[in-house]
Amino acid sequence: MTDDKLGNFYLLSFPLFFLIHTRRIEMNIEIPNEKLFDKDIESIFENPNIQGRGDNYFREAIRYFHWPYGEVHQESLKSGDFHKNLRRLTISMLYTNSQDYVNKIIWSNFEDWIKSRESLIFTSNLFIEIRPLIISIFFELLFDQKISSAQLRIYNEAIANMHNTMKGIALRSKKVRVKMYEDIQQQLKNINQLQVFKSAKLQDIPQETLAKHIGGVFFHTGVVQTTEFITHTLVEIYRNQEIKDNLRQFIQQSSPVISWEVIEQYKYLDYILNESLRLFPLFGKTDRQVTKSLTIKDILLKEGSIIYLNFSLIHKLHWNEPDSFNPSRWGKNQTQIDSPKLSKAQFIPFGIGSRKCPAETFTYNMTKVIVFTIFKRINLSIPSNFIHTRRIPRGVPIVFSLNDDSRQLYSDEESVLNLENKLLISLENRHSLSYEVDELAGLSILGTFTKIINNLKYYGISNFSAFSPLITRIQIWFIFQIKQIQKFRN
Ligand code: HEM
Repeated sequence: MTDDKLGNFYLLSFPLFFLIHTRRIEMNIEIPNEKLFDKDIESIFENPNIQGRGDNYFREAIRYFHWPYGEVHQESLKSGDFHKNLRRLTISMLYTNSQDYVNKIIWSNFEDWIKSRESLIFTSNLFIEIRPLIISIFFELLFDQKISSAQLRIYNEAIANMHNTMKGIALRSKKVRVKMYEDIQQQLKNINQLQVFKSAKLQDIPQETLAKHIGGVFFHTGVVQTTEFITHTLVEIYRNQEIKDNLRQFIQQSSPVISWEVIEQYKYLDYILNESLRLFPLFGKTDRQVTKSLTIKDILLKEGSIIYLNFSLIHKLHWNEPDSFNPSRWGKNQTQIDSPKLSKAQFIPFGIGSRKCPAETFTYNMTKVIVFTIFKRINLSIPSNFIHTRRIPRGVPIVFSLNDDSRQLYSDEESVLNLENKLLISLENRHSLSYEVDELAGLSILGTFTKIINNLKYYGISNFSAFSPLITRIQIWFIFQIKQIQKFRN
Protein backbone atom coordinates (compact mmCIF):
# COMPACT_ATOMS: atom_id res chain seq x y z
CA MET A 1 0.00 0.00 0.00
CA THR A 2 1.37 3.45 -0.89
CA ASP A 3 1.79 6.04 1.87
CA ASP A 4 -1.08 8.00 0.35
CA LYS A 5 -3.49 5.10 0.53
CA LEU A 6 -2.31 4.21 3.99
CA GLY A 7 -3.01 7.79 5.11
CA ASN A 8 -6.53 7.61 3.64
CA PHE A 9 -7.10 4.29 5.32
CA TYR A 10 -6.25 5.81 8.71
CA LEU A 11 -8.35 8.86 7.95
CA LEU A 12 -11.36 6.62 7.45
CA SER A 13 -10.71 4.64 10.58
CA PHE A 14 -10.04 7.16 13.31
CA PRO A 15 -10.74 4.79 16.17
CA LEU A 16 -8.28 2.22 14.83
CA PHE A 17 -5.68 4.92 14.26
CA PHE A 18 -6.24 6.18 17.79
CA LEU A 19 -5.58 2.71 19.21
CA ILE A 20 -2.39 2.26 17.16
CA HIS A 21 -1.22 5.74 17.95
CA THR A 22 -1.77 5.50 21.70
CA ARG A 23 0.08 2.18 21.82
CA ARG A 24 3.18 3.94 20.52
CA ILE A 25 3.32 6.01 23.69
CA GLU A 26 4.79 3.38 25.92
CA MET A 27 4.46 4.92 29.34
CA ASN A 28 3.26 8.09 30.89
CA ILE A 29 4.31 8.84 34.44
CA GLU A 30 3.69 11.60 36.89
CA ILE A 31 6.34 12.89 39.31
CA PRO A 32 6.83 12.97 42.19
CA ASN A 33 5.88 9.33 42.78
CA GLU A 34 7.09 6.54 45.05
CA LYS A 35 10.25 6.02 42.96
CA LEU A 36 11.01 9.46 41.58
CA PHE A 37 11.07 12.12 44.26
CA ASP A 38 11.43 15.87 44.09
CA LYS A 39 15.22 15.37 44.37
CA ASP A 40 15.11 13.74 40.92
CA ILE A 41 13.13 16.51 39.26
CA GLU A 42 16.14 18.67 38.55
CA SER A 43 18.06 15.95 36.76
CA ILE A 44 14.99 14.85 34.78
CA PHE A 45 14.13 18.38 33.70
CA GLU A 46 17.70 19.05 32.60
CA ASN A 47 18.14 15.73 30.80
CA PRO A 48 18.70 16.39 27.07
CA ASN A 49 16.72 13.25 26.21
CA ILE A 50 13.63 14.46 28.06
CA GLN A 51 13.17 17.83 26.44
CA GLY A 52 10.51 16.82 23.90
CA ARG A 53 7.51 19.08 23.56
CA GLY A 54 4.61 19.79 21.38
CA ASP A 55 3.97 16.27 20.20
CA ASN A 56 1.18 15.08 22.42
CA TYR A 57 -2.47 15.61 23.17
CA PHE A 58 -1.81 17.81 26.23
CA ARG A 59 0.30 20.29 24.20
CA GLU A 60 -2.13 20.17 21.28
CA ALA A 61 -4.81 21.29 23.72
CA ILE A 62 -2.65 24.20 24.94
CA ARG A 63 -2.12 25.26 21.31
CA TYR A 64 -5.84 25.01 20.66
CA PHE A 65 -6.62 27.29 23.60
CA HIS A 66 -4.05 29.83 22.42
CA TRP A 67 -5.39 30.16 18.85
CA PRO A 68 -4.32 32.13 16.72
CA TYR A 69 -1.01 32.27 18.59
CA GLY A 70 -0.67 28.53 19.27
CA GLU A 71 1.73 27.61 16.48
CA VAL A 72 4.44 29.95 17.76
CA HIS A 73 3.51 29.73 21.43
CA GLN A 74 6.84 29.63 23.23
CA GLU A 75 5.67 27.23 25.92
CA SER A 76 4.73 24.52 23.42
CA LEU A 77 7.58 24.86 20.93
CA LYS A 78 10.19 22.15 20.63
CA SER A 79 13.58 23.21 22.00
CA GLY A 80 15.81 24.43 19.19
CA ASP A 81 16.96 27.61 17.47
CA PHE A 82 13.49 28.99 16.80
CA HIS A 83 12.50 28.55 20.43
CA LYS A 84 15.83 29.99 21.61
CA ASN A 85 15.32 33.15 19.52
CA LEU A 86 11.82 33.71 20.81
CA ARG A 87 12.91 33.10 24.40
CA ARG A 88 15.68 35.67 24.02
CA LEU A 89 13.19 38.12 22.59
CA THR A 90 10.75 37.63 25.49
CA ILE A 91 13.50 38.22 28.03
CA SER A 92 14.74 41.38 26.34
CA MET A 93 11.18 42.74 26.13
CA LEU A 94 10.47 41.99 29.78
CA TYR A 95 13.62 43.52 31.17
CA THR A 96 14.33 46.52 28.92
CA ASN A 97 12.71 49.09 31.18
CA SER A 98 13.83 50.09 34.66
CA GLN A 99 11.69 49.09 37.65
CA ASP A 100 10.86 52.76 38.27
CA TYR A 101 9.55 53.11 34.73
CA VAL A 102 7.45 49.94 35.09
CA ASN A 103 6.07 51.20 38.41
CA LYS A 104 5.15 54.55 36.90
CA ILE A 105 3.11 52.76 34.26
CA ILE A 106 1.44 50.55 36.87
CA TRP A 107 0.48 53.53 39.04
CA SER A 108 -0.85 55.64 36.17
CA ASN A 109 -2.93 52.76 34.79
CA PHE A 110 -4.22 52.08 38.29
CA GLU A 111 -5.42 55.70 38.53
CA ASP A 112 -7.20 55.41 35.16
CA TRP A 113 -8.72 52.13 36.25
CA ILE A 114 -10.08 53.65 39.48
CA LYS A 115 -11.47 56.64 37.59
CA SER A 116 -13.26 54.37 35.13
CA ARG A 117 -15.33 52.76 37.93
CA GLU A 118 -18.91 53.81 37.47
CA SER A 119 -19.72 53.57 41.13
CA LEU A 120 -17.70 53.67 44.35
CA ILE A 121 -19.30 50.53 45.69
CA PHE A 122 -20.64 47.60 43.69
CA THR A 123 -20.72 43.82 43.37
CA SER A 124 -18.45 42.29 40.77
CA ASN A 125 -16.00 39.52 40.05
CA LEU A 126 -12.28 39.78 40.71
CA PHE A 127 -11.29 38.35 37.31
CA ILE A 128 -13.48 40.92 35.58
CA GLU A 129 -11.94 43.76 37.60
CA ILE A 130 -8.28 42.76 37.48
CA ARG A 131 -7.95 41.59 33.86
CA PRO A 132 -8.45 45.00 32.16
CA LEU A 133 -5.98 46.59 34.56
CA ILE A 134 -3.28 44.08 33.63
CA ILE A 135 -4.08 44.40 29.91
CA SER A 136 -3.65 48.18 30.03
CA ILE A 137 -0.32 47.83 31.88
CA PHE A 138 1.10 45.28 29.40
CA PHE A 139 -0.16 47.32 26.46
CA GLU A 140 1.62 50.48 27.61
CA LEU A 141 4.81 48.60 28.51
CA LEU A 142 4.97 47.05 25.04
CA PHE A 143 3.62 49.78 22.80
CA ASP A 144 4.65 52.96 24.66
CA GLN A 145 1.15 54.38 24.65
CA LYS A 146 -2.06 54.18 26.65
CA ILE A 147 -4.66 51.73 25.47
CA SER A 148 -7.86 53.38 24.22
CA SER A 149 -11.18 52.30 25.68
CA ALA A 150 -12.19 50.76 22.33
CA GLN A 151 -8.94 48.75 22.22
CA LEU A 152 -9.33 47.72 25.85
CA ARG A 153 -12.76 46.32 25.02
CA ILE A 154 -11.31 44.29 22.11
CA TYR A 155 -8.35 42.93 24.12
CA ASN A 156 -10.47 42.20 27.15
CA GLU A 157 -13.03 40.27 25.13
CA ALA A 158 -10.35 38.23 23.34
CA ILE A 159 -8.40 37.38 26.48
CA ALA A 160 -11.55 36.63 28.49
CA ASN A 161 -12.55 34.22 25.71
CA MET A 162 -9.19 32.45 25.93
CA HIS A 163 -9.34 32.37 29.75
CA ASN A 164 -12.90 31.00 29.75
CA THR A 165 -12.19 28.46 27.01
CA MET A 166 -9.35 27.02 29.10
CA LYS A 167 -11.62 26.84 32.12
CA GLY A 168 -14.26 25.02 30.10
CA ILE A 169 -16.97 27.63 30.58
CA ALA A 170 -16.98 29.04 27.02
CA LEU A 171 -16.34 27.99 23.44
CA ARG A 172 -13.47 29.43 21.44
CA SER A 173 -14.52 32.47 19.41
CA LYS A 174 -12.32 33.22 16.41
CA LYS A 175 -14.22 36.44 15.74
CA VAL A 176 -13.28 38.16 19.01
CA ARG A 177 -9.68 36.89 18.92
CA VAL A 178 -8.95 38.05 15.38
CA LYS A 179 -9.70 41.66 16.35
CA MET A 180 -6.97 41.63 18.98
CA TYR A 181 -4.52 39.98 16.59
CA GLU A 182 -5.18 42.66 13.97
CA ASP A 183 -4.64 45.40 16.51
CA ILE A 184 -1.31 43.91 17.62
CA GLN A 185 -0.18 43.85 13.98
CA GLN A 186 -1.22 47.47 13.66
CA GLN A 187 0.83 48.44 16.75
CA LEU A 188 3.90 46.71 15.36
CA LYS A 189 3.97 49.05 12.39
CA ASN A 190 5.81 51.52 14.66
CA ILE A 191 8.26 48.89 15.77
CA ASN A 192 11.37 51.01 15.22
CA GLN A 193 10.18 53.57 17.73
CA LEU A 194 9.04 51.14 20.39
CA GLN A 195 11.19 51.11 23.51
CA VAL A 196 10.99 47.37 24.28
CA PHE A 197 12.18 46.37 20.81
CA LYS A 198 15.23 48.61 20.83
CA SER A 199 17.49 46.04 22.45
CA ALA A 200 15.85 43.04 20.78
CA LYS A 201 17.39 41.28 17.79
CA LEU A 202 14.48 41.13 15.38
CA GLN A 203 16.09 40.64 12.01
CA ASP A 204 15.28 36.91 11.75
CA ILE A 205 11.73 37.18 13.01
CA PRO A 206 8.95 37.88 10.48
CA GLN A 207 6.38 40.48 11.54
CA GLU A 208 3.55 37.91 11.55
CA THR A 209 5.49 35.63 13.90
CA LEU A 210 6.27 38.59 16.12
CA ALA A 211 2.59 39.56 16.34
CA LYS A 212 1.67 35.98 17.26
CA HIS A 213 4.47 35.79 19.78
CA ILE A 214 3.36 38.98 21.52
CA GLY A 215 -0.30 37.93 21.49
CA GLY A 216 0.47 34.49 22.91
CA VAL A 217 3.16 35.30 25.44
CA PHE A 218 2.19 38.72 26.72
CA PHE A 219 -1.55 39.01 26.25
CA HIS A 220 -2.60 35.38 26.64
CA THR A 221 -0.07 33.86 29.04
CA GLY A 222 1.12 37.08 30.70
CA VAL A 223 -2.27 38.68 31.32
CA VAL A 224 -4.03 35.49 32.36
CA GLN A 225 -1.26 34.29 34.68
CA THR A 226 -0.88 37.67 36.36
CA THR A 227 -4.66 38.09 36.73
CA GLU A 228 -4.93 34.70 38.38
CA PHE A 229 -1.92 35.24 40.63
CA ILE A 230 -3.25 38.60 41.85
CA THR A 231 -6.75 37.18 42.31
CA HIS A 232 -5.53 34.29 44.49
CA THR A 233 -3.36 36.62 46.50
CA LEU A 234 -6.08 39.22 47.11
CA VAL A 235 -8.61 36.58 48.17
CA GLU A 236 -6.27 35.34 50.89
CA ILE A 237 -5.26 38.85 52.00
CA TYR A 238 -8.82 40.13 52.31
CA ARG A 239 -10.05 36.99 54.05
CA ASN A 240 -7.35 37.02 56.70
CA GLN A 241 -7.46 39.64 59.45
CA GLU A 242 -3.87 39.02 60.62
CA ILE A 243 -2.50 39.58 57.12
CA LYS A 244 -4.60 42.70 56.64
CA ASP A 245 -3.38 44.10 59.98
CA ASN A 246 0.24 43.47 59.05
CA LEU A 247 -0.15 45.21 55.68
CA ARG A 248 -2.07 48.13 57.20
CA GLN A 249 0.58 48.62 59.87
CA PHE A 250 3.24 48.81 57.18
CA ILE A 251 1.23 51.35 55.17
CA GLN A 252 0.63 53.52 58.23
CA GLN A 253 4.33 53.58 59.07
CA SER A 254 5.34 54.56 55.54
CA SER A 255 5.13 57.92 53.85
CA PRO A 256 2.06 58.59 51.65
CA VAL A 257 3.98 58.01 48.41
CA ILE A 258 5.75 54.70 48.84
CA SER A 259 8.84 54.15 46.74
CA TRP A 260 9.87 50.89 45.08
CA GLU A 261 12.84 50.57 47.48
CA VAL A 262 10.47 50.55 50.46
CA ILE A 263 8.08 48.03 48.90
CA GLU A 264 11.02 45.84 47.97
CA GLN A 265 12.29 45.76 51.52
CA TYR A 266 8.93 44.77 52.95
CA LYS A 267 9.63 41.03 53.09
CA TYR A 268 6.21 40.07 54.41
CA LEU A 269 4.77 40.89 50.97
CA ASP A 270 7.22 38.37 49.44
CA TYR A 271 6.02 35.78 51.96
CA ILE A 272 2.40 36.44 50.95
CA LEU A 273 3.24 36.00 47.26
CA ASN A 274 5.27 32.85 47.93
CA GLU A 275 2.48 31.37 49.96
CA SER A 276 -0.04 32.25 47.25
CA LEU A 277 2.03 30.44 44.61
CA ARG A 278 2.77 27.52 46.93
CA LEU A 279 -0.88 26.82 47.64
CA PHE A 280 -2.30 27.92 44.28
CA PRO A 281 0.40 27.18 41.69
CA LEU A 282 -0.95 28.47 38.40
CA PHE A 283 0.39 25.49 36.49
CA GLY A 284 -1.21 22.36 37.88
CA LYS A 285 1.01 20.17 35.74
CA THR A 286 3.49 20.44 32.92
CA ASP A 287 4.94 17.77 30.67
CA ARG A 288 8.10 16.69 28.88
CA GLN A 289 8.36 13.98 26.26
CA VAL A 290 11.15 11.40 26.13
CA THR A 291 12.99 11.73 22.80
CA LYS A 292 15.39 8.80 23.29
CA SER A 293 14.66 5.76 25.47
CA LEU A 294 16.47 5.80 28.80
CA THR A 295 16.38 4.30 32.26
CA ILE A 296 16.09 6.30 35.45
CA LYS A 297 16.20 4.43 38.76
CA ASP A 298 15.33 1.16 37.02
CA ILE A 299 12.31 2.71 35.29
CA LEU A 300 12.53 2.24 31.55
CA LEU A 301 11.22 5.31 29.81
CA LYS A 302 10.67 4.50 26.17
CA GLU A 303 10.84 7.10 23.44
CA GLY A 304 7.53 8.93 23.26
CA SER A 305 6.71 8.51 26.97
CA ILE A 306 5.42 11.62 28.67
CA ILE A 307 6.50 12.76 32.11
CA TYR A 308 4.07 14.98 33.93
CA LEU A 309 5.27 17.18 36.75
CA ASN A 310 2.65 17.82 39.43
CA PHE A 311 3.33 21.24 40.96
CA SER A 312 0.50 21.14 43.52
CA LEU A 313 1.77 17.89 44.99
CA ILE A 314 5.38 19.07 45.29
CA HIS A 315 4.35 22.27 47.01
CA LYS A 316 2.57 20.41 49.77
CA LEU A 317 5.20 17.80 50.55
CA HIS A 318 7.50 19.66 52.89
CA TRP A 319 5.37 21.77 55.15
CA ASN A 320 3.44 21.45 58.36
CA GLU A 321 -0.25 22.05 57.76
CA PRO A 322 0.34 22.31 54.02
CA ASP A 323 -3.25 23.29 53.23
CA SER A 324 -3.32 26.41 55.36
CA PHE A 325 -2.39 29.84 54.00
CA ASN A 326 0.36 31.01 56.32
CA PRO A 327 2.81 33.63 54.92
CA SER A 328 4.83 33.59 58.15
CA ARG A 329 6.12 30.10 57.33
CA TRP A 330 8.45 31.82 54.84
CA GLY A 331 10.12 33.91 57.58
CA LYS A 332 13.54 32.76 58.72
CA ASN A 333 12.56 31.23 62.04
CA GLN A 334 9.42 29.62 60.75
CA THR A 335 11.18 28.13 57.74
CA GLN A 336 13.63 26.42 60.05
CA ILE A 337 10.78 24.70 61.87
CA ASP A 338 8.65 23.98 58.85
CA SER A 339 11.16 23.09 56.22
CA PRO A 340 14.81 23.02 57.25
CA LYS A 341 16.19 23.58 53.79
CA LEU A 342 14.13 23.89 50.66
CA SER A 343 15.98 22.35 47.77
CA LYS A 344 15.75 23.89 44.32
CA ALA A 345 12.94 21.59 43.24
CA GLN A 346 10.70 21.87 46.27
CA PHE A 347 9.15 25.24 45.43
CA ILE A 348 8.92 25.70 41.67
CA PRO A 349 5.90 27.83 40.75
CA PHE A 350 7.81 29.16 37.73
CA GLY A 351 9.13 25.78 36.63
CA ILE A 352 12.64 24.38 36.54
CA GLY A 353 15.38 23.80 33.98
CA SER A 354 16.07 25.46 30.68
CA ARG A 355 12.36 26.00 29.97
CA LYS A 356 11.48 27.73 33.22
CA CYS A 357 9.38 30.88 33.11
CA PRO A 358 11.34 33.86 31.79
CA ALA A 359 9.03 36.28 33.62
CA GLU A 360 9.63 35.22 37.24
CA THR A 361 11.35 38.36 38.55
CA PHE A 362 9.22 40.64 36.38
CA THR A 363 5.99 39.04 37.64
CA TYR A 364 7.05 39.19 41.31
CA ASN A 365 7.97 42.86 41.08
CA MET A 366 4.90 43.85 39.10
CA THR A 367 2.54 41.90 41.35
CA LYS A 368 4.03 43.42 44.52
CA VAL A 369 3.27 46.93 43.31
CA ILE A 370 -0.22 46.05 42.06
CA VAL A 371 -1.25 44.15 45.20
CA PHE A 372 0.13 46.88 47.40
CA THR A 373 -1.60 49.66 45.44
CA ILE A 374 -4.93 47.83 45.46
CA PHE A 375 -4.75 47.11 49.18
CA LYS A 376 -3.99 50.75 49.93
CA ARG A 377 -7.01 52.07 48.03
CA ILE A 378 -9.64 49.36 47.80
CA ASN A 379 -11.71 47.28 50.12
CA LEU A 380 -12.80 43.88 48.83
CA SER A 381 -15.34 41.73 50.65
CA ILE A 382 -15.58 38.10 49.66
CA PRO A 383 -18.62 35.98 50.57
CA SER A 384 -17.82 33.66 53.46
CA ASN A 385 -19.18 30.64 51.54
CA PHE A 386 -16.82 31.16 48.59
CA ILE A 387 -14.65 28.05 48.15
CA HIS A 388 -11.11 29.05 47.20
CA THR A 389 -9.60 26.41 44.89
CA ARG A 390 -6.61 26.49 42.57
CA ARG A 391 -8.60 26.84 39.37
CA ILE A 392 -11.45 29.14 40.51
CA PRO A 393 -13.41 28.41 37.32
CA ARG A 394 -15.72 31.40 37.47
CA GLY A 395 -13.53 33.93 39.27
CA VAL A 396 -14.29 35.36 42.69
CA PRO A 397 -17.50 37.21 43.54
CA ILE A 398 -16.73 40.40 45.46
CA VAL A 399 -18.13 43.58 46.90
CA PHE A 400 -15.79 46.27 45.64
CA SER A 401 -15.46 49.61 47.42
CA LEU A 402 -12.87 52.33 47.79
CA ASN A 403 -11.35 52.59 51.26
CA ASP A 404 -9.47 54.91 53.63
CA ASP A 405 -8.75 58.19 51.83
CA SER A 406 -11.37 57.49 49.21
CA ARG A 407 -13.99 56.80 51.90
CA GLN A 408 -13.89 60.47 52.87
CA LEU A 409 -15.70 61.15 49.63
CA TYR A 410 -18.83 59.87 51.29
CA SER A 411 -20.72 62.16 53.64
CA ASP A 412 -22.30 59.29 55.51
CA GLU A 413 -19.87 56.46 56.22
CA GLU A 414 -22.46 54.49 58.16
CA SER A 415 -24.65 54.06 55.10
CA VAL A 416 -21.69 52.79 53.05
CA LEU A 417 -21.04 50.05 55.59
CA ASN A 418 -24.71 49.08 55.53
CA LEU A 419 -24.73 48.97 51.76
CA GLU A 420 -21.57 46.85 51.77
CA ASN A 421 -23.17 44.33 54.13
CA LYS A 422 -26.33 44.17 52.08
CA LEU A 423 -24.40 43.54 48.88
CA LEU A 424 -22.31 40.86 50.58
CA ILE A 425 -25.39 39.03 51.83
CA SER A 426 -26.88 39.14 48.34
CA LEU A 427 -23.70 37.50 46.98
CA GLU A 428 -23.68 34.86 49.71
CA ASN A 429 -27.25 33.94 48.83
CA ARG A 430 -26.38 33.28 45.20
CA HIS A 431 -25.97 29.58 44.55
CA SER A 432 -22.78 27.78 43.64
CA LEU A 433 -19.92 30.20 44.25
CA SER A 434 -17.18 27.88 43.06
CA TYR A 435 -16.50 24.27 42.15
CA GLU A 436 -13.35 22.29 42.56
CA VAL A 437 -12.35 20.92 39.15
CA ASP A 438 -8.63 20.45 38.79
CA GLU A 439 -8.56 19.73 35.07
CA LEU A 440 -7.56 21.84 32.11
CA ALA A 441 -10.98 22.38 30.51
CA GLY A 442 -11.80 18.77 31.20
CA LEU A 443 -9.02 17.13 29.24
CA SER A 444 -9.56 13.88 31.05
CA ILE A 445 -12.85 12.02 30.66
CA LEU A 446 -13.61 12.51 34.35
CA GLY A 447 -12.73 16.23 34.16
CA THR A 448 -14.97 16.68 31.11
CA PHE A 449 -17.99 15.16 32.80
CA THR A 450 -17.41 16.96 36.08
CA LYS A 451 -17.27 20.23 34.20
CA ILE A 452 -20.44 19.49 32.25
CA ILE A 453 -22.30 18.67 35.45
CA ASN A 454 -20.99 21.82 37.16
CA ASN A 455 -21.88 23.94 34.15
CA LEU A 456 -25.36 22.46 34.05
CA LYS A 457 -25.81 23.32 37.72
CA TYR A 458 -24.57 26.83 37.07
CA TYR A 459 -26.15 27.73 33.73
CA GLY A 460 -29.12 25.40 33.71
CA ILE A 461 -29.93 22.73 31.20
CA SER A 462 -31.14 25.11 28.49
CA ASN A 463 -27.77 26.83 28.03
CA PHE A 464 -25.61 25.54 25.20
CA SER A 465 -22.33 26.60 26.83
CA ALA A 466 -22.90 24.04 29.58
CA PHE A 467 -21.56 21.51 27.06
CA SER A 468 -18.49 23.55 26.11
CA PRO A 469 -15.96 21.15 27.76
CA LEU A 470 -17.30 18.27 25.69
CA ILE A 471 -17.34 20.24 22.43
CA THR A 472 -13.83 21.58 23.10
CA ARG A 473 -12.55 18.11 23.85
CA ILE A 474 -13.98 16.66 20.64
CA GLN A 475 -12.50 19.52 18.59
CA ILE A 476 -9.04 19.10 20.10
CA TRP A 477 -9.19 15.34 19.61
CA PHE A 478 -9.96 15.68 15.90
CA ILE A 479 -7.29 18.32 15.33
CA PHE A 480 -4.76 16.12 17.12
CA GLN A 481 -5.64 13.06 15.04
CA ILE A 482 -5.45 15.00 11.77
CA LYS A 483 -1.99 16.32 12.73
CA GLN A 484 -0.84 12.79 13.54
CA ILE A 485 -2.02 11.60 10.12
CA GLN A 486 -0.25 14.50 8.41
CA LYS A 487 2.92 13.65 10.30
CA PHE A 488 2.59 10.02 9.30
CA ARG A 489 2.13 10.95 5.63
CA ASN A 490 5.18 13.19 5.68
C1 HEM B 1 2.53 34.18 38.46
C2 HEM B 1 2.70 34.22 37.19
C3 HEM B 1 3.35 33.13 36.39
C4 HEM B 1 3.59 31.82 36.71
C5 HEM B 1 3.24 31.10 38.00
C6 HEM B 1 4.25 31.22 35.59
C7 HEM B 1 4.66 29.91 35.55
C8 HEM B 1 5.33 29.35 34.50
C9 HEM B 1 5.84 28.00 34.47
C10 HEM B 1 5.68 26.97 35.58
C11 HEM B 1 6.47 27.81 33.29
C12 HEM B 1 7.23 26.57 32.85
C13 HEM B 1 6.35 25.59 32.18
C14 HEM B 1 7.08 24.31 31.89
O1 HEM B 1 8.11 23.99 32.47
O2 HEM B 1 6.56 23.57 31.06
C15 HEM B 1 6.32 29.03 32.54
C16 HEM B 1 6.80 29.22 31.29
C17 HEM B 1 6.64 30.38 30.58
N1 HEM B 1 6.10 31.56 31.05
FE1 HEM B 1 5.36 31.93 32.86
N2 HEM B 1 4.40 32.16 34.62
C18 HEM B 1 3.87 33.34 35.06
C19 HEM B 1 3.83 34.55 34.42
C20 HEM B 1 4.29 34.77 33.16
C21 HEM B 1 4.26 36.02 32.47
C22 HEM B 1 3.74 37.33 33.07
C23 HEM B 1 4.79 35.80 31.23
C24 HEM B 1 5.02 36.74 30.09
C25 HEM B 1 4.85 38.02 30.11
C26 HEM B 1 5.17 34.41 31.17
C27 HEM B 1 5.73 33.80 30.07
C28 HEM B 1 6.15 32.47 30.04
C29 HEM B 1 6.74 31.86 28.87
C30 HEM B 1 6.99 32.53 27.53
C31 HEM B 1 7.05 30.54 29.21
C32 HEM B 1 7.68 29.48 28.30
C33 HEM B 1 9.15 29.42 28.56
C34 HEM B 1 9.86 28.53 27.54
O3 HEM B 1 9.40 27.42 27.28
O4 HEM B 1 10.87 28.98 27.03
N3 HEM B 1 4.87 33.82 32.35
N4 HEM B 1 5.64 29.96 33.30
